[in-house]
Amino acid sequence: MNILVTGGCGFIGSNLVRWLRKHRPDATVINLDKLTYAGNLENLKELEGDPKHVFVKGDVGNRELVEHVLRAHKVDAIMHLAAESHVDRSILGPEAFTVTNVLGSQVLLEAARTVGVGRFLMVSTDEVYGSLGPTGLFTEKTPLDPSSPYSSSKAAADLLALAYEHTFKLDVVVTRCSNNYGPFQFPEKLIPLMVVNALHDKPLPVYGDGTNVRDWLHVDDHCSALVAALEKGKKGNVYNIGGNSERQNIQIVKAILAAVGKPESLIKYVTDRPGHDKRYAIDATKIRAELGWQPSFVFEQALKDTVAWYVEHRPWWERVTSGAYRQYFDTQYKQRLS
Ligand code: NAD
Ligand code: DAU
Repeated sequence: MNILVTGGCGFIGSNLVRWLRKHRPDATVINLDKLTYAGNLENLKELEGDPKHVFVKGDVGNRELVEHVLRAHKVDAIMHLAAESHVDRSILGPEAFTVTNVLGSQVLLEAARTVGVGRFLMVSTDEVYGSLGPTGLFTEKTPLDPSSPYSSSKAAADLLALAYEHTFKLDVVVTRCSNNYGPFQFPEKLIPLMVVNALHDKPLPVYGDGTNVRDWLHVDDHCSALVAALEKGKKGNVYNIGGNSERQNIQIVKAILAAVGKPESLIKYVTDRPGHDKRYAIDATKIRAELGWQPSFVFEQALKDTVAWYVEHRPWWERVTSGAYRQYFDTQYKQRLS
């Protein structure tokens, strides 16, 4: 089987490529990635020389290239992860989010239809549902109500994918997962950012009062769910993915400080993210019951292991955060703390 993974050099994508090579050794993985600031071939260093991992540098919005890749590699299935993924960046500059997440996804869907690809797995997000109050869970029937430019662009792509199934009978499955954590996450997202700052004895910028809630899932559990959806998901269906691990941001930040042995005085409450969603929580009953998927990581231990990974992989995060990213980060960081 030949699987095209888009965005395979990013956080989840690189973990997914590794997962596939380990657990589906007969599959060839074609990895189409533009290598934006968030994508690094270094994330897949251990696969150097692996004939069943084929890297293609390119944009999912390049129709000619995408069709060529689908034909040349006789792609059976697509796992579409390539995206601009960071909410704060979408507030600073929404255009790139529309271009890649909406238009790029549309080009990929159209190419899949034209060439005749078997299955199209659209990797969406729980953020398409908007925000919850103190109770309740997102189910697959919860109406979409995205709030940020990021989540709106993902909702557009998610609905386009479902429209391609409905209208053109393309074999589409959509997944909507909660917040991931684990190795190789770019240090702009909550967990790696806080670890890196703590290790530098820099303030840890907590938005608002720190009581916003996210539902955390280890990235390997997300990967196994994506493969379950690819292999066993029903055409035209949506599957929520989550690990029943709701935590307030401030709990996570304190746990990280404890793990690296730094004082809570490093915590700095800063101006809230505009339009900050209060709470996400996933009801994953459907994927558990219909596809037999279940998470295997226990949050407290896996968070400690994740923190330890960043402590041990300092050269990795120093390299990926150098150059152009440094400029963005420094500007943002100064603004947040002022
Ligand atoms: P990421 O930012 O770490 O990686 C994105 C990857 O996509 C990078 O390798 C980047 O180079 C590539 N890319 C960006 N624009 C591209 C383009 N135009 N053409 C080709 N490649 C391009 O993102 P992530 O956190 O790994 O998220 C991956 C996917 O999973 C996204 O679609 C995201 O919406 C979704 N998702 C993420 C989470 C999470 O917690 N991180 C949760 C649910 C869903
Ligand atoms: O829910 C799935 C989504 O999770 C994915 O679709 C997105 O791609 C992914 O980035 C993530 O979005 P969030 O906005 O929830 O993740 P982030 O790590 O940016 O923030 C997590 C929480 O931490 C959120 O409530 C904002 C808060 N936060 C974040 C940063 C970066 C802070 O308090 N301070 C910070 O510096």
